[in-house]
Amino acid sequence: MSRRFKAVLFDLDGVLADSATAHYAAWRRLADELGIPFDETINERLKGVSRMDSLDIILEQAGQSYDAAEKDRLAARKNGYYRDIITTLSPEDLLPGALDALKACRTASLKVALASASRNAPMLVERLGLAPYLNFIADASKAARSKPAPDIFQIAAAGVGVPPEDALAIEDAAAGVKAAKDAGCTVIGVGDRETLWEADHIIADMTVFRLEYYITGP
Ligand code: BG6
Ligand code: MG
Repeated sequence: MSRRFKAVLFDLDGVLADSATAHYAAWRRLADELGIPFDETINERLKGVSRMDSLDIILEQAGQSYDAAEKDRLAARKNGYYRDIITTLSPEDLLPGALDALKACRTASLKVALASASRNAPMLVERLGLAPYLNFIADASKAARSKPAPDIFQIAAAGVGVPPEDALAIEDAAAGVKAAKDAGCTVIGVGDRETLWEADHIIADMTVFRLEYYITGP
């Protein structure tokens, strides 16, 4: 799958930042408070999915329905829990291998964009010190549709002036892999093949990301 890519589009939560666990902890707290069953299997379906769509998935297990105003309040409550956790993050909370991957992109003179479904992406970028490595940030606030729609990856590629076909996307969520594939990118899935089957290539985590392999071959 080696090619002369011109840009790398990184997902944030679970690829660069150790924040997927913070989303999980915040949803778990909300679900526990509401007495709604919630486990790792349900959590896997939330990865890459917008805040409101995630809430809808969690509420599938609730024995009652919630109106739009109640759902807004629940989503805001979860976001408060999540922000409490991420305000404590620092550059040390970048996932292992993430910084090396960003530096390798820069050394290879590739454009780098963030393609995140999170409205908290700008805050995480600041907490983690990512700004110097990014040419463009595409987050949920810039896209009409969230992942698995291709919009965020299309916006990320356009933001760095590269056709999606010339971009390598890095994703840890099934919804994100689909989004990037449908945008026309080549996709590296970070995680397991069973979940991320649609990816062009799978790596277990970012410590085994080898840019030279993807851009010039082994
Ligand atoms: C994605 C996460 O990056 O962002 C999802 O994988 C999360 O778990 C989504 O729900 C939206 O995040 P936020 O910060 O806008 O609630
Ligand atoms: Mg992710």
